[in-house]
Amino acid sequence: MADPEILVGGDPDVVAEIAAAELVAHLRAVLLRRDRASLGLSGGTTPANLYRRLGGEPNLLDWRRIDLFLVDERCVAPSDEASNYRLITETLIRGLGDAAPDVHRIRGELRAPAAAADYALTLERHLVGRPPALDAVVLGVGADGHTASLFPGSLGDPVSDFEPPWAVATRSPLAPRDRVSLSLSVLRAALLRIVLVTGSAKRDLVTRLLGPDSATDLPAAWLNGFPGRTLWVLDRAAAADLVVA
Ligand code: 6PG
Repeated sequence: MADPEILVGGDPDVVAEIAAAELVAHLRAVLLRRDRASLGLSGGTTPANLYRRLGGEPNLLDWRRIDLFLVDERCVAPSDEASNYRLITETLIRGLGDAAPDVHRIRGELRAPAAAADYALTLERHLVGRPPALDAVVLGVGADGHTASLFPGSLGDPVSDFEPPWAVATRSPLAPRDRVSLSLSVLRAALLRIVLVTGSAKRDLVTRLLGPDSATDLPAAWLNGFPGRTLWVLDRAAAADLVVA
C-alpha cells in the first residue's frame, strides 16, 4: 500500500494552487479514458479555498462530465449557513455557470440515519464498485483529528473495513452535532485522496498524523496506507515540525 505523499506550500493560497493542479491533472487523466469522472467534496474553510480557486477558473475542467458528491454533510437544510452543500454551491458551483456539474447532495434535511441510508443508495446508483469508487475526494482535517465527519472514538477497526454501509450517521462534538459522512470503506476505495491542512494551530496534529510515530486513534491517520494515492497538501505553518525529504 502506498505511503502518503506530502507537498508543502508557502501559505494557504499556494496550498489551494497545488491542490487544484493535482486534482485537475488527475481528473483530466480520468476523462481521457472515461466519459465521466466522480469527485467527492468535504466542507471546511481549508477545502473551501480550493473550491474558490476552481470556481474562479471554470475552464480548468470539463465540469459537465463530472459528477459531484458530498463527502459529508451537517443535518441541516441545504440553505442553512452550516450546510456543506451551500458552501460548495457558493464557492465552486456558482463560479462554473452553465458548465456546472451535477451535484448529488446528502439530504441533510432528513434525520441522520435516513439521510445516510438514502445516500448509500445514491452512491450505489451512480458509482461502480463495492465499495462505490470515487475518482477523487477532497478532505480537510479538524483540530481533533477528524476527517470527513468521522470523529475520534466513533469507529471500530480501521483496517478491515471494506464493507457497507457506504454512508454513516455520526455525532460531532461541535454543533451541528448530527452529521452524515462517507464511511471509511468509501474513502479507502477512492483513487485519489487530497487532504488539505493549513495553519500553525494544526502543527502538532500534523506531526501526530504524518510524523514517525503516526497516531492510530485519529480517523485522519487512517487515510494513510489506503490503496490508491493519499496526497497531503500542507502549508509551511502546519508542516513546520515535519522533516519532508
Ligand atoms: C465539515 C468538514 C470537515 C472539515 C474539517 C476541516 O463538515 O466540517 O467536512 O471534515 O473538512 O473539519 O475544516 P477546516 O478546514 O475549516 O479546519
